[in-house]
Amino acid sequence: MDLNLLKEKAKKAIESAPSRKEIDVIFRTYLGRKGELTTILRSLGTRSGEERRRLGQEANELRTWFEERCEARKREIQRAETERGGKEEWIDVTAPGKRIAVGHLHPLTQVQRTAREIFQSMGFEVAEGPEIESEWYNFDALNIPPNHPARDMWDTFWLKGNQKIPKEDGKVERLLLRTHTSPVQIRYMEKHSPPLRIIAPGRIFRYEATDARHEINFYQLEGLMVGKTVSAGNFKAIIQEFFGRFFGTLVKIRLRPSYFPFTEPSFEVDMTCLLCSGKGCSGCGNAGWIEIMGAGMVHQNVFGAVGYVPGEWQGFAFGMGLDRLAMMKYKINDIRLLYNGDLRFLHQF
Ligand code: FA5
Repeated sequence: MDLNLLKEKAKKAIESAPSRKEIDVIFRTYLGRKGELTTILRSLGTRSGEERRRLGQEANELRTWFEERCEARKREIQRAETERGGKEEWIDVTAPGKRIAVGHLHPLTQVQRTAREIFQSMGFEVAEGPEIESEWYNFDALNIPPNHPARDMWDTFWLKGNQKIPKEDGKVERLLLRTHTSPVQIRYMEKHSPPLRIIAPGRIFRYEATDARHEINFYQLEGLMVGKTVSAGNFKAIIQEFFGRFFGTLVKIRLRPSYFPFTEPSFEVDMTCLLCSGKGCSGCGNAGWIEIMGAGMVHQNVFGAVGYVPGEWQGFAFGMGLDRLAMMKYKINDIRLLYNGDLRFLHQF
């Protein structure tokens, strides 16, 4: 085809194109894989000397012109659209807003924060301790020496290899993932003198089988109050107050005698299962009650381990399961739901 004719045809098409999309269509008609100009350019190889040179030069000039013309026309169209308040720039101020996805706090974090606030309002300070703990803080200082059968109460994840702390007497101490928040009591008392009132929320680990009420990784909130006259009566009053404020209603609790090496006497605190209103369900193992915490009056040997003069101080300590509190507050019948990261579950809180 005569290149001049082709140029005329292309010029008319480009100038009358109403949109940038249309320009793209025209571009493909001429310079696409099977475009008219592409075909000519491809045929150059079959032509002989002089003709190939002349036609090649003209066809390449036409290609450059065509490409530039298409771009220029696109810019013209865009400018016109902008001036008219064209589609690209147009904002519909009446359109409903786009919802921006924001995350929210995990139910366990919410529960922990609420619990902290309640205890802080009752004068408790917040203390912290490490998740990787030494045998001394997790067991010995809490009146649980090596080979004591009470160590079996907490199936422990021990750290392997040379993860050991050298001791003054040349022996080494093994490291573990803390099985409860009680070591924070020791760490705090070593550095502070009574009277004192602390809580220590945190993550803990136990090497045990899971079920609706048990996880291998869960959260506890430790409490410790020491003074000259702190009693089990004070403990009961504080706990009752905590439950009332946490659940916003009167919750039935019971104290059962129990055993912990670091408290004497010891008890366990249960609350009516709010999943079934005490009737019995899978969440509470059909007991109608759910065990929320272990507690007791601090054993004098523990005071001895942190350097307090035994007999001079008294106080209570407790360790409550924050996951179980969350289960009761939000009516969650399986603790494992809190850890499987299913957004369909988490979005409900
Ligand atoms: C203790 O861990 C003691 N350190 C508590 C304590 C502190 C007693 C201070 C005396 C003085 P226990 O193993 O019972 O006790 O655990 C305390 C609470 O943690 C339980 O009442 C329960 O609410 C929760 N809990 C225990 N095991 C699990 C588990 N596997 N999964 C989820 N929650 C658990």
